[in-house]
Amino acid sequence: MLLDIIKTRRSVFPVQYTQGEIPKADLLTLLESARWAPNHRKTEPWRYKVLQGKALDQLGDFLASRYEKTDGFKKFKLKKLRENPSKASAIILIFMHRDEKESVPEWEEIAATSMSVQNMWLTAHDLGYGAYWSSPKPFAPMNEFDLIEVGERERFLGFFYIGSYDKEEQALPERKDVNEVTQFLG
Ligand SMILES: Cc1cc2nc3c(=O)[nH]c(=O)nc-3n(C[C@H](O)[C@H](O)[C@H](O)COP(=O)(O)O)c2cc1C
Repeated sequence: MLLDIIKTRRSVFPVQYTQGEIPKADLLTLLESARWAPNHRKTEPWRYKVLQGKALDQLGDFLASRYEKTDGFKKFKLKKLRENPSKASAIILIFMHRDEKESVPEWEEIAATSMSVQNMWLTAHDLGYGAYWSSPKPFAPMNEFDLIEVGERERFLGFFYIGSYDKEEQALPERKDVNEVTQFLG
């Protein structure tokens, strides 16, 4: 049941990944689910760049090299930034492409892209992969990452990590009750 998939999806972090490649067919299934997200005025604002293999090591080197230049950097954090990407089977860089005509407000294009990421996240979970959305690093602007070209109208929204992991039955985490976040009227 869809609700079970929604409820049991979790953020699964690099430390939990058992490594190994993700088959291209599975990656394409994730990306196929992504492109069916709802979007206002059919702007289809999501753009993805998929990193695998050596590209993951290069991302780690890039993030670490930029973090190292920040004031008061911590050694353990530097190590994590360098090593975490290589633990993933793939990382999908999430971009929002701003509609040329700006026919909808920007927030709607960010919202549509987020829905598309949720589609991938649920699909990854359904296929047995662990995934999580990691926020952009302010100290590492992605247009300075040599491996990719970022279009002028593209805004980077984060890293979608994907990895295999050993699944364990987990109690659901706490979430606010429906009644706490909803007003029923009429
Ligand atoms: C837009 C967005 C950005 C996120 N960025 C981070 C992040 O930078 N680091 C992190 O540990 N988790 C990040 N998360 C994951 C959340 O921490 C996680 O979804 C939340 O704790 C709920 O856990 P769950 O995904 O297992 O339900 C992000 C989630 C979203 C939706």
